[in-house]
Amino acid sequence: MLFKELTIKNMTLKNRTVLAPMCMYMAEEFGYAEYFHMVHYVSRSMGGVGLIIQEATAIDQNGRISPKDLGIWRDNHVEQLKMIVDGVHKNDTKMGIQINHAGRKGIADRPLAPSAIQFNFKYHIPKKMTIKDIKKVIEDFKQAARRANEAGYDYLEIHAAHGYLLCEFLSPNTNKRKDEYGDRKKLIKEVVVAVREEWPEEKPLAIRFSASEYVEEGITPEWIADLINELKPLGLDIANISSGGNVSEQEIKLFPGYQLDFAKTIRSKTGIVTIGGGLITNLEMADKAIIDGSCDLVYFGRLLLREPFYIINHAENLGEDMPYPKYYKRAKA
Ligand SMILES: Cc1cc2nc3c(=O)[nH]c(=O)nc-3n(C[C@H](O)[C@H](O)[C@H](O)COP(=O)(O)O)c2cc1C
Repeated sequence: MLFKELTIKNMTLKNRTVLAPMCMYMAEEFGYAEYFHMVHYVSRSMGGVGLIIQEATAIDQNGRISPKDLGIWRDNHVEQLKMIVDGVHKNDTKMGIQINHAGRKGIADRPLAPSAIQFNFKYHIPKKMTIKDIKKVIEDFKQAARRANEAGYDYLEIHAAHGYLLCEFLSPNTNKRKDEYGDRKKLIKEVVVAVREEWPEEKPLAIRFSASEYVEEGITPEWIADLINELKPLGLDIANISSGGNVSEQEIKLFPGYQLDFAKTIRSKTGIVTIGGGLITNLEMADKAIIDGSCDLVYFGRLLLREPFYIINHAENLGEDMPYPKYYKRAKA
């Protein structure tokens, strides 16, 4: 199954493997992509992955996780981003981007958050957002979507996981608002509607969710499934399932495939195209996750940092003869 094509809207993936979004913190200045990003993403596309999701890319200078985040808050970020997209396309890999506002986990002196609750003592005390702040963030996501389309990305992912801004609004641990945005689903719905005004109907739109906060009170996979069922009519096509990151003292028991059950619950309750993963250690395991209905696509993070050519080099374990890039043919084992 892992090597079976999948078409979502106008994006046809040659296989079901995905490079998970991973911040590299390698932008030197104001979020502009560097040679590093080009080499990093293009070499992974040479290694056979079906879809690359570019790291969390900031929609606002003040919404960065670090000073070295990639950015998409300026129109002239597009030129370098387009070079990455074009390079990846040469290897028949689809290129996605994750757009993010870091919220209370950002570098701003007064980071923004739904409520003025610090992540932990290492972070600044955030400012409780005004309605005007919220409207600006919605507009920033919308403009980022426009630029992502101009750069030629095939897939757009809104980051609503790991305790960044949109995740903070989803969680009862971080959203204590008494106004209309105390409805934890309201902001993400408005962001999806705004993004869809710029992101073409025929291109797939995804959201990354933390399906659990690993504490008694908090986001659950069932609650995320209900939310997804409300977001689908607004234009959501794909759910990328992760977990954690919103509560500082969480305890996560890690084991290979530790998040696949979350993905399975969400997929079965929504029928949405689901990306699952987390400590996937080989292709056989990824294949099984698809066969047993946990997900439709599988993301690989650290494995593809260590071994960019892992997929192409191990495809034959699943009986797949993946073509090697012609310039490396003589190196094929
Ligand atoms: C270096 C690094 C950076 C990451 N940055 C992001 C990110 O930008 N956005 C995101 O949603 N997840 C991020 N993650 C989480 C990964 O996407 C992935 O969910 C996690 O590493 C688990 O998958 P793995 O066990 O296959 O690595 C990051 C993980 C790592 C190791």
